[in-house]
Amino acid sequence: MVSHDILIVGGGLAGLAAALTADPKLNVAVLSKVHPIRSHSVAAQGGINAALANHPNAKDDTWEKHAFDTIKGSDYLADQDAAELMCQLAIPTMYELDHWGVPFSRFPGGVIAQRPFGGAGYPRTCYAADRTGQVLLHTLYEQCIRKNVTIYDEIVVTNIVVRDGRCVGLVAYDLATGEIRPFAAKAVIFGTGGYGRIYKLSTNAYINFGSGIGMAYRAGIPLKDLEFVQFHPTALYGKNILITEAARGEGGYLVNNKGRRFMEDYAPTAMELAPRDIVARSITTEILKGNGFENAYVHLDLRHLGREKIEKRLPGIQEICINFSGIDPADTPIPIQPAQHYSMGGIDVDKNCASLVKGFYAAGECACVSVHGANRLGGNSLLDAIVFGKIAGVSASKFINEGGFAGPRDAEITAEAKTLTDQFESIRKRDKGHNVYQLLNDLKILMGDKAGIFRDGKQLQEGLDGLSGLKEASRDSYIYGSCTRFCQEFVTLIEFKYMTDLAETILLGGLKRTETRGSHFRTDFPKRDDDNWLKHTLASYSDKGPVLSYREVNVDKYKPQERKY
Ligand code: FUM
Repeated sequence: MVSHDILIVGGGLAGLAAALTADPKLNVAVLSKVHPIRSHSVAAQGGINAALANHPNAKDDTWEKHAFDTIKGSDYLADQDAAELMCQLAIPTMYELDHWGVPFSRFPGGVIAQRPFGGAGYPRTCYAADRTGQVLLHTLYEQCIRKNVTIYDEIVVTNIVVRDGRCVGLVAYDLATGEIRPFAAKAVIFGTGGYGRIYKLSTNAYINFGSGIGMAYRAGIPLKDLEFVQFHPTALYGKNILITEAARGEGGYLVNNKGRRFMEDYAPTAMELAPRDIVARSITTEILKGNGFENAYVHLDLRHLGREKIEKRLPGIQEICINFSGIDPADTPIPIQPAQHYSMGGIDVDKNCASLVKGFYAAGECACVSVHGANRLGGNSLLDAIVFGKIAGVSASKFINEGGFAGPRDAEITAEAKTLTDQFESIRKRDKGHNVYQLLNDLKILMGDKAGIFRDGKQLQEGLDGLSGLKEASRDSYIYGSCTRFCQEFVTLIEFKYMTDLAETILLGGLKRTETRGSHFRTDFPKRDDDNWLKHTLASYSDKGPVLSYREVNVDKYKPQERKY
């Protein structure tokens, strides 16, 4: 059996950052369902936040101001000590990335360039044109190669093995061989990303079904604040492709079918650079009021920026618009609509990325520390992934070096792999039943309809009812083809149970939270209710469905106030 000291699952920024900070004396490996540089981090466009104070309009920016913006943006649900830690570490992290070779865009004089982003009091988003995720991911990957980190790609982890409250290994489907394989480890770190693809409209990659979050849930680790789902205001209409917030940061306008910059009705000071929850709701409201185009989208107008600026700062956006919609944003406004983009909630971990299962750590979008609370600010996700990925690598190493590992359980991991192999064999033998892709499509439609930008109790309950039908139907789903190797239908079938778990926690958490906060907008409870709901939701797995409990938010310095932008 393959055995390592630390197994990191996920080859995106969180996973690779963890690999780079793990103790080099330990035997570390990364397992990824795709080649690491195809991980979803590569799709991040606009930038990464740090109060470097390089921009001429940000000379007095500080990490404390960054932390305050993050907490206010979170609608005060972020744990304030955690948000402070992330924002403080942002500054040295940016210089470390610079020294590792990240080709950041530069201001004259050579310092890292910074641009305005939503919900930020200062222009503090560092960037590499509009391909920031790509350059960060490639640089971290190069560093992993330099440090001889072992990487297994095209391995789909299916289960976490926990014995006596400790994580002792993993079971995984090896795409290339078709085998179900056991992996032993003294500590495991998940950097498995979000669940965006359980929504029909999503900017996420086709690998983002959230199965890592679901595996942790089934392994006994609570999920925190799953009801908070981020919808990015600007996805290319009908294409599920992100059009970066940097397009507005560089000065782009949102315009309705009357030719008006409608954000003046919703966020008269911040306008297009209000936090995402507010901008996404404003766009949706305009469309519902009949002020959209074809009742479906509004315009993001970049024409006034000029061709030169668009080609220099937003080349990827220009290319996407030309290739996928046949329009050049230098000449024509971009049709945009909101789409699911990010999960504020995730695996419940502390500031050290530790969970309640010993030896199991999580970082990045799959985890909830919580630094984003009810709404994440643009540019804070790459930061979260790298800062907490690094912390996870250190924490897991410390756990092992301080004797936290209680001894190998190889026979039990092998037995678990065998049980799963048998289960999967019996599924493969079915020749009729429900098609899992049809079920997935139904799930995506349900989530968009019942747990979207605006929700109410009736819809959320209908979502739960519909979901139980889908869960029931999935029990007899079968694989249409007979493939064993690279069988994506098989992967979808394995992952579907995790997707329905997540959908259930989103819907139930949302139903019980009878208030509006950040991205969770209840039309039947349209006000924030700090007296009753300034608390995190925790969902624990049981055979009968999620068991919810609540935890106080760390409100250290900043008393919750009304958010005005
Ligand atoms: O709009 C964007 O470029 C996305 C950034 C983010 O999600 O942080």
